[in-house]
Amino acid sequence: MAQATFHFPRGFLWGTATSSHQNEGNNQNNNWWRWEQQPARIIDDTESGLACDWWNGRWREDFDRAAETNQNAHRLSIEWSRVQPTPERWDENAIDRYREMLRGLQDRELTPLVTLHHFTNPRWVEDQGGWENPEVSAWFTTYVSKMVEALREYASLWITINEPNVLVGLAYASDAFPPGKHSLASSVRATTNLVRAHASAYKAIHSLQPQARVGLAVQIRPMLPRSPRWPLDRLVASLADRNLNHLFTEALVSGKLRFPGWRKRLPEVKGTQDFLGINYYTRDLVNFSLWHPMQFFARRSFARDADLSDTGFIANDPSGMFQVLKWASRYKLPIIIAENGVDNADDRLRPRYIIEHLHQVWRAANFNWQVKGYFYWTLVDNFSWNRGWTQRYGLWELDPQTQTRRRRPSVDLYAEICQENGISSDMVARYAPEILEKLFPD
Ligand code: BGC
Repeated sequence: MAQATFHFPRGFLWGTATSSHQNEGNNQNNNWWRWEQQPARIIDDTESGLACDWWNGRWREDFDRAAETNQNAHRLSIEWSRVQPTPERWDENAIDRYREMLRGLQDRELTPLVTLHHFTNPRWVEDQGGWENPEVSAWFTTYVSKMVEALREYASLWITINEPNVLVGLAYASDAFPPGKHSLASSVRATTNLVRAHASAYKAIHSLQPQARVGLAVQIRPMLPRSPRWPLDRLVASLADRNLNHLFTEALVSGKLRFPGWRKRLPEVKGTQDFLGINYYTRDLVNFSLWHPMQFFARRSFARDADLSDTGFIANDPSGMFQVLKWASRYKLPIIIAENGVDNADDRLRPRYIIEHLHQVWRAANFNWQVKGYFYWTLVDNFSWNRGWTQRYGLWELDPQTQTRRRRPSVDLYAEICQENGISSDMVARYAPEILEKLFPD
């Protein structure tokens, strides 16, 4: 076996990603809390509850875990409903709490990547139409400005909105997330307002903090035709790819929102990103299906021999990571992998998932594509939205009842990677021997 190390660029950010509603606990004043109370919304009938109990201070021990295992960055989000519980009121105590958390990151030498919206809306926003209301862009910008003024001393790397494409797909085109509209017209309205809100927030952040770096985090889940020789499969694969994966990024580059058969000029949004935040988990095969009109007639599946996660939600498909980075590299902007991870309670799949995906990131960096950092999803098991507590993405296992954390073997693997700023054949031999030959052939 060849003895070698894949080295990453100097200054690479190594961290994990988390989000307010999934980690803090007791976020009672947002649309998700209300949604969780409704029957059959969450597949295992659970609620976010105390989540990882961060709001009561357990962020401290979890940030310690991140720092002690050699991470040098952390991605978290601010909960809009906490800092602006009603349109007229700012909760200064909540804002202080976030200041304290960001200071906590600074004290541990973890560079913060701060998300300003991760799926949840304050109830007052949701009750007035949420992302469908054209005023939401102004509301969001007011909130963002307040947060940047309050936190700019501690953070300069911002993600305005997490996965607007997933949000539209699950909350407006279907009913997996609130408000569950199931409507094409609602999806078009929400998309337009999300793009506008991002651009307006981008400008507000830069006026308050000229050195800020601001982007979106888009989830890219590439689609390949199930039968490449079948023209309809090829057609729906490219349609779905363009509309579900690329639409937001293209809009911010071109200043045009292009839906099939309909386009809207939004010149004010052009050029409003300093980096591309990419969340990559898996890749789909798609075939033409009349039963999936809202997904652009694309029915998704995985290959028969796919290396699947616990719930079959994710296939370990690392070359999809390379495909996404290749697509992203055409925009000539720095790239941050803002999420990548797998649900796997017994940790048998996670080590090879992490290594194989990072191997592709390393390949991309060797093409001089500007990949600046990687955030594993997630630090400690957390509340997984409509999938409740059925999915375990954490490096650390969490029992939400007792709040006990237990280290999975991947903790040590990731700690070694972060320390080395690279992946060595020796690490692979110890943590995922089954892929050693593939990664380090003789
Ligand atoms: C989201 C996370 C979520 C993860 C795993 C991403 O789409 O940003 O909030 O928990 O996927 O499902």
